[in-house]
Amino acid sequence: ETNPFVEELLGKMTLEEKIGQLNLPGSGDVVTGQAQNSDIAKKIEAGMVGGLLNITSVEKIKEVQKIAVEKSRLKIPLLFGLDVIHGYRTTFPIPLGLSTSWDMGLIEKTARMAATEASADGINWTFSPMVDISRDPRWGRFSEGSGEDPYLGSEIAKAMVRGYQGDDLTKNNTIMSCVKHFALYGASEAGRDYNTVDMSRIRMYNEYLPPYKAAIDAGVGSVMASFNEIDGIPATGNKWLLTDLLRKQWGFKGFVVSDYTGVNEMIEHGMGDLQTSSALALNAGLDMDMIGEGFLTTLMKSVEEGSVNMIQIDNAVRRILKAKYDLGLFDDPYKYCDINRAQAEIFTEDNRHFSREVASQSMVLLKNENQLLPLKKSGTIAIVGPLANSKENMAGTWSVATVQNKSIALLEGLNTVVGDKVKIVYAKGSNLTYDAELEQRATMFGKELNRDNRSDAVLLNEALEIASKADVIVAALGESAEFSGESSSRTNIEIPQVQQDLLKALLKTGKPVVMVLFTGRPLVLKEESKTVPAILNVWFPGSEAGLAISDVLFGDVNPSGKLTATFPRSIGQIPLFYNHKNTGRPLQNKEGKFEKFTSNYIDERNEPVYPFGFGLSYTNFTYDNLRLSSDKMTENDTIKVTVDVTNTGDFDGKEVVQLYIRDVIGTVTRPVKELKGFQKVALNKGETKSVTFSITIEDLKFYNYDLDYVAEPGEFEIFIGTNSDDTLKTSFRLEMN
Ligand code: IFM
Repeated sequence: ETNPFVEELLGKMTLEEKIGQLNLPGSGDVVTGQAQNSDIAKKIEAGMVGGLLNITSVEKIKEVQKIAVEKSRLKIPLLFGLDVIHGYRTTFPIPLGLSTSWDMGLIEKTARMAATEASADGINWTFSPMVDISRDPRWGRFSEGSGEDPYLGSEIAKAMVRGYQGDDLTKNNTIMSCVKHFALYGASEAGRDYNTVDMSRIRMYNEYLPPYKAAIDAGVGSVMASFNEIDGIPATGNKWLLTDLLRKQWGFKGFVVSDYTGVNEMIEHGMGDLQTSSALALNAGLDMDMIGEGFLTTLMKSVEEGSVNMIQIDNAVRRILKAKYDLGLFDDPYKYCDINRAQAEIFTEDNRHFSREVASQSMVLLKNENQLLPLKKSGTIAIVGPLANSKENMAGTWSVATVQNKSIALLEGLNTVVGDKVKIVYAKGSNLTYDAELEQRATMFGKELNRDNRSDAVLLNEALEIASKADVIVAALGESAEFSGESSSRTNIEIPQVQQDLLKALLKTGKPVVMVLFTGRPLVLKEESKTVPAILNVWFPGSEAGLAISDVLFGDVNPSGKLTATFPRSIGQIPLFYNHKNTGRPLQNKEGKFEKFTSNYIDERNEPVYPFGFGLSYTNFTYDNLRLSSDKMTENDTIKVTVDVTNTGDFDGKEVVQLYIRDVIGTVTRPVKELKGFQKVALNKGETKSVTFSITIEDLKFYNYDLDYVAEPGEFEIFIGTNSDDTLKTSFRLEMN
């Protein structure tokens, strides 16, 4: 599969120019580590740069591209990469929020729109999707992924790659996608960012690797190596991972980029100096070095000394040139630099409208006692809390192209949507935390800390004062945007104490309280789930946050989001996830009562506060009549499983119908439940729909002890329901010849 254009170009390149293509410096606009680059223009001119990271705007990108294609000897255009993670200027909910929509069409469209906006602003490469499965919400980057489930994560990975890359990468509104962080980054020990990962192969293959593979099968153009080690070798320099698995087993043809200074970090990992680490990484299958310039400064010497060979260098260069070729950059290096597109296609009314729709679809109604929600469009509402009027916290982490002051805060949204009918009174109520130092740590480099100077008592009194005049209190509480995201791991994942105190005081007034919860991770809400009558989890909803939240609070949109990660009762339960193994001593009683000498805790129940797949609606759905087309299956059969779902409440609504399977007996132990299908169905009030899933042998396969992908004969339990813990059950037998 050689590409004649690429081969011809390669033939003209000096070794210096080849190594230059493997170098990815940063513009300095977004800095997420210690190192930075200098003399970039000079290096581009000298052919020492393959792409540039974190630079935005048509004007700036055009200027830089011009240096590459007019001043460098071989005129090779540059890649321009950016973290377009959940939208570009028009920002969508954080990825964890997108996942809770369970709507693949919607998610694909967000990626498509993000690609259109980013490409209109000069970008041709995005570091998304992030598909790291995580079961540890202490990890700050939980917010950037799609939760804990490999099946759902794989579906989302495919949808996002399709959205970014479209069906033709040479178009000027599609961009190259980069699946990350390869691999297993979400399993960092103790949820501490950049920490060690250690995992059995069988767990990797069955539970953590599927979403990366799904992205590769969907044709993703590039892969980013993760910061963590795997089996004692950093991913950046792990040959088994980057060559044996990725290329040989999975057939990946694109290129692999390191994470930010990933090569240099191999020194701290204990792999040797920069030259040794760079050679290890290249030989392992890494093609491009982000920020650290280890390749640029040492590969030449390694070639001379023989620790790196030309075949390896040529292969890496080929892959990068091929990516540029696939993007059509050799035909037109300025194809993404059309100022008219930048003016016409970014942050348009239509795009913002779509963002509002997506945000409302991602929200998860966690509790709604006595149908407190939706709120009436009359009377007086007190809106209280440090996140009630906070534009800068609406978009959430990794929103580098968002114009924060154009985001719509909740207070503004409420005024726009119901301000003519409802009297809205506002007080901040508290700062985000009692601890200014903690808040400072969660603030991105260089950003000013925006704390209220008034005392805690003054802020609280003001809130209680306005609450006393209201019919209902809406408390906007939770995490600030940078409380989750990169380098924002937490050991305490409760709502910060000052906000808990505010909440308690508000509840004490006896007025109905709705908590609008902002968060980038599952939180421990054990207390709140008991004391607060209504909880709407909005994640970080994006640029149209306030409007979308108001749409849901007042019932213009009926919430339909479902959790994609378990909300634990206690931090001590972590890791807690629905698709766990049974153990040899599972708890026997359904009520969760303590049982000595079974697998449980003396001081806490086993189950979560909110399970995977959970989310309420303003209406009710009942499930019945679960039936199979046959109770036996052979290798080539398709079994149909059908359930009747009825909307028995007073609102039209959407329900995510979930299919789980359990392989009862295996040659290795199998999870108690595994998601294998879902459908989001719209049901008018009173309406019943029969929902059917097809099950083939592919749905029953897993990696066995020898890592062969097999289905084993025997009994399979089938569960269909509204969440992972509330299902109807049936079963069939797989018979093989
Ligand atoms: O894409 C990111 C990655 O997720 C974390 N380190 C920096 C990269 C580029 O900004």
